[in-house]
Amino acid sequence: MTRGRSRHFAAAAVPLLLTLLTAVADNNVTVFRCCGRGEMLDPTDVHGPCAMLPSSLPPDFVPVIFDETSNQFLNPNEPPPAYWNLVHERPPCRPAAFLPASAPLDAPRFVSFLNGTLLAQHWPKSLTVDPGLYCLDRAGALLCLPEEPNKTKKCCGPSAVYSEANGGCEFSGRHDAADLPEDITSGFPRCEDDAYILSGRINESHWPVNGAWPAGGQLRTADGGTLQPREYCLERVLEDTQEPRTWTVFTCAPRHGVDHVTKSYREDIRFTLYPLGLLLSVFFLAVTLVASCMLPSTYHVLHWKCQVNHVGCLLVGDLCLAFVQLSGDNLRGPLCVFTGK
Ligand SMILES: *[C@@H]1O[C@H](CO)[C@@H](O)[C@H](O)[C@H]1NC(C)=O
Ligand SMILES: *[C@@H]1O[C@H](CO)[C@@H](O)[C@H](O)[C@H]1NC(C)=O
Ligand SMILES: *[C@@H]1O[C@H](CO)[C@@H](O)[C@H](O)[C@H]1NC(C)=O
Ligand SMILES: *[C@@H]1O[C@H](CO)[C@@H](O)[C@H](O)[C@H]1NC(C)=O
Repeated sequence: MTRGRSRHFAAAAVPLLLTLLTAVADNNVTVFRCCGRGEMLDPTDVHGPCAMLPSSLPPDFVPVIFDETSNQFLNPNEPPPAYWNLVHERPPCRPAAFLPASAPLDAPRFVSFLNGTLLAQHWPKSLTVDPGLYCLDRAGALLCLPEEPNKTKKCCGPSAVYSEANGGCEFSGRHDAADLPEDITSGFPRCEDDAYILSGRINESHWPVNGAWPAGGQLRTADGGTLQPREYCLERVLEDTQEPRTWTVFTCAPRHGVDHVTKSYREDIRFTLYPLGLLLSVFFLAVTLVASCMLPSTYHVLHWKCQVNHVGCLLVGDLCLAFVQLSGDNLRGPLCVFTGK
């Protein structure tokens, strides 16, 4: 009886031991780096080939790694632990989502654990991504997002609308979900380079399949096609006052040959704050300029001349930058060259 039991125990212990052994061997963590040594992602085309790094920068970058056991980040000046295999490869999904790295002093937007799992802040909530489904770079990370539920999406989420003038979502203070299916989620379709078009309106160019909303969120288009819920989202457009009020359909911009492309920086409040900050500094630079002109004692002093030139140049520069920021993608032709875009 006892012998039988212990043999039973031994039989159970063998797979346990094997799991332990593989766990030790698995300590070899493989994490993808998007680019090779001396290269980085090209910020103008993160899905394209890597760009050469300026020789002033170190050829290797150190990813942000969090050690859960000691509850702290690893030293950013030291290479990752030896069992971390950094392999030059891109994640398998197309298109992968790009998450830009945060500014040096800001909290990181994504961080790897020692076991290779990545924790990323991705609107509307954070998510974890397994190693092999993302790659790291000093410019940011490319990741494969999990499958989306089969639901219709309101592009801007609750209590927000889309502003064509700003090229992004705006808080509206009022939650309007009239005519929308009961069970909706938020977000834009996943498009390469985040390029959307306003492709039509409900009941004008797009119709709910079977004339009823809850049909899995599919839409029929004017040319007879069908849009799956992950391929579009619906939103009110602030500037669209046409009656009767209806929902505008946002889809991914076709790859080529489309002029009206709306880039949405919805996930990034900086794109709103940045032009505001620039305009603010334009204002104060102008005040400085006026104030120094009104002080006659400073006239003809060399230092004063330098200062006026300096402030004047800053003012023109900031004004152009703010203009470029505010105009978004509406800027075309020679004006682009003039403002330095
Ligand atoms: C870790 O895995 C990689 C690829 O799977 C292999 O090339 C490397 O030799 C392994 N390293 C160790 C220490 O096992
Ligand atoms: C790695 O660690 C994180 C944080 O504890 C955990 O959420 C994740 O599930 C782990 N991943 C694996 C593959 O064990
Ligand atoms: C989503 O819903 C549509 C319509 O009901 C159905 O045909 C499709 O298979 C569903 N897709 C998934 C992934 O559940
Ligand atoms: C579309 O038309 C149907 C039938 O006329 C109507 O019930 C529905 O409210 C309309 N939907 C929108 C979003 O205007």
